[in-house]
Amino acid sequence: MDYQKVRDRFVQFFEAKGHRIVPSSSLIPQDDASVLLTTAGMQQFKPCFAGVDSPYGDLAISIQKCFRLSDIDSVGDDTHLTFFEMFGNFAFRGEVSKEQAILWAWEFLASPNWMAIGRDRITASYYNGNRAGTKADGEAKTALSKVDGLSRVTAQPDTENFWGPTGSEGPCGPTVEFYVDGVEVWNVVFNEFYCQPDGTLSPAVGGLGIDTGMGLERLLLTVTPEAESIYDTDAFAPIIAMIKAHTPGEEAGVTKSIRIVADHLRGSVFLLSDHVQPSNKEQGYVLRRLLRRAILHLDKLNALAGFEEIIGAIIGRYGDFYPELLSQKDMIIQLANLERDKFLKTITQGRKELDKVISESENSITGERAFDLFATYGLPLDFIKEEAAQHHLKVDENSFERAFQSHQEISRAGVESKFGGHGLSSGAQVSEADQQVITRLHTATHLLHAALIKFLGNEVKQAGSDLNTERARFDFTFSRALTDDEKRQVEDWVNEQIQKDLPVKKEAKPLQEALGEGALAFFKQKYPNVVDVYTIYDPATDEVISKELCGGPHVSRTSEIDKFHITKEQSSSAGVRRIRAVIN
Ligand code: GLY
Repeated sequence: MDYQKVRDRFVQFFEAKGHRIVPSSSLIPQDDASVLLTTAGMQQFKPCFAGVDSPYGDLAISIQKCFRLSDIDSVGDDTHLTFFEMFGNFAFRGEVSKEQAILWAWEFLASPNWMAIGRDRITASYYNGNRAGTKADGEAKTALSKVDGLSRVTAQPDTENFWGPTGSEGPCGPTVEFYVDGVEVWNVVFNEFYCQPDGTLSPAVGGLGIDTGMGLERLLLTVTPEAESIYDTDAFAPIIAMIKAHTPGEEAGVTKSIRIVADHLRGSVFLLSDHVQPSNKEQGYVLRRLLRRAILHLDKLNALAGFEEIIGAIIGRYGDFYPELLSQKDMIIQLANLERDKFLKTITQGRKELDKVISESENSITGERAFDLFATYGLPLDFIKEEAAQHHLKVDENSFERAFQSHQEISRAGVESKFGGHGLSSGAQVSEADQQVITRLHTATHLLHAALIKFLGNEVKQAGSDLNTERARFDFTFSRALTDDEKRQVEDWVNEQIQKDLPVKKEAKPLQEALGEGALAFFKQKYPNVVDVYTIYDPATDEVISKELCGGPHVSRTSEIDKFHITKEQSSSAGVRRIRAVIN
C-alpha cells in the first residue's frame, strides 16, 4: 500500500463512521503558549475537550503535522522522526465508548478491507493504574478481551499508558496502545481527566473524550512489506533517492547520516512553511538546530552541493498534500540557503579552531576545549570526536559532560518546560554572552518573585518560569490582573535592590532545613535531599531580600543585572498570571 492510499483509507474509514475531516493545524500552536510546537493531533481540539462547543461536530478526524524534539536522538533508527504526520480520530464528550474506540482501531488495522495487517503481528496494552491515585483501566481490559483475534495484551504503568497533557495543563487519561511487530503504532487515549497546572486531575467536564494518535509513517511501514524502515517507504523514497544521488561512496555511517538529513530537512521545510525562521530562540532555535545538523551530515556525506535539490525533492513529495509548500517554495529555499551560508561561515572558523586544538593536543582533547568549540562555534561533539579520531586523538567525554552540565543548568529552568526536558540535552548552542544574559535574567526573576510576594501577598506561588536570551517569563498564582500601580511598585522595588548592589550567596543545605528557613521552592519540582539555596541579602541591615531553592547559576552581585523592566502582565490560565520582563 502506498502513502496516498493509506491516507485515503484512514479518511474513508472514519467518514463511514460519521467523522468529519478537519485540516491539519499549523506546527505553531495557536492560543496555547504552553507548548513550543504541535506535538499531537489533539492540540487544535484542546478546548473541545474542555467544554467548548466543537465547530466541527462531535466526531472529527485529522492528519496532523506534528513535531517531537524529544525523539531527535533516536532519529536514524528505523522508526523515529522529529517531524511526522499523525492520524487521529476524536470524540469530545462521551459520544464514543472505550469499547467502540478500541473496536474501530482493531477493525481499521486488521480488517482485510482496510489495512489488512496480519492479526498475529498485532498486540495491545492497557493502563494498570497509579498516576495520581487513578485506577487500572478495567473497562479497556474487558473491551480488549472481546477483540477477536488479538492474541497478546499486556498491562502497563502510567509511564507507558497514560497520555497528556500537552504543555502544562489540559485533557489527559489512560490509553490503549496497539503495536505491530512490537513497534507502537496507535495510541488510543481516553480523556477522562483534565490536568490542572499544579498536576492535580479533575474529571473531564464533557465526559469521556476519545483522542487517538497514529504515526502515519509507522503505519505505512507496517503495510509496505519490502520496507525495513520508514525511510524505505514511498513517503520518503524520492527524498532518500535525491540524497543518495549526491552522495558518493558507501562508507560506514552513510545510512544513518542519510536518514538524519532526510528527517531534519523534511522537518525544516515544514517549519519554514509555517513561518518559522531560524533564530536563537524558541521555534526558530529548533529549526536552526535541525538545519545545522543536516548540513553537518551532508558535509560528511560530501553531498552539500545537493542541499537545494533535496529541499526541492521534499517540496515535490509533499506539495500535493500540503499546498503551502508549493506556494512558498521560493521563500523556503531562500531561507534555508541563507542559514546554510551563515552556518558554513561559522563552521569554517570552528574547524580552524579545531585544527589548532588538534595540533596542540597530545593523546586527547580536554572536555573543556571540546565544549568551548561546541558552545562558541556550534560544532557538535560527534563531529569533534570524528575529526579527533582521524588524528588518533580521543576526546575527554566525561569532562565535556561536566562542562556541558554546568552550562545547561543556566537555561534549564526555562527551556525545560517547552522542550519537554530534552531540548538542551544534545546540542544547545548558547554562547558565553548569551549565558551571561540568561544568568542576569535568572537573578532578576528571583527579585521579581520576592517583589510579587511582598506587594501582593502569599497568594503568589511560582507556577512556571522560562528564560531565554530575550526575556524572562514568570508565571504565578494570583486571582486578578495587576494594577498599573502594582506593576510600577514591583518594578521599582526590583530596581532598588539592583542599585543597592547586594551580594548573592549560595549555600548547600538539607532540603528540610532550607524549607524551614522559608526558602521559596517551586511546588512542581522534585528536589534532592541536599539543595542549593541562593540568598540575596543586605549586609547593612542583615535583611533577607530573597531566598530560593535553585540550581543556579546567578550573578554574584545584583548590580550586574542593570535595569529591570516589566514588558507585559497577562493571564496565563485560570488563576495564573504571567509576567514578561527584560533587562538592559
Ligand atoms: N494524543 C495522542 C497521542 O499523541 O498519542
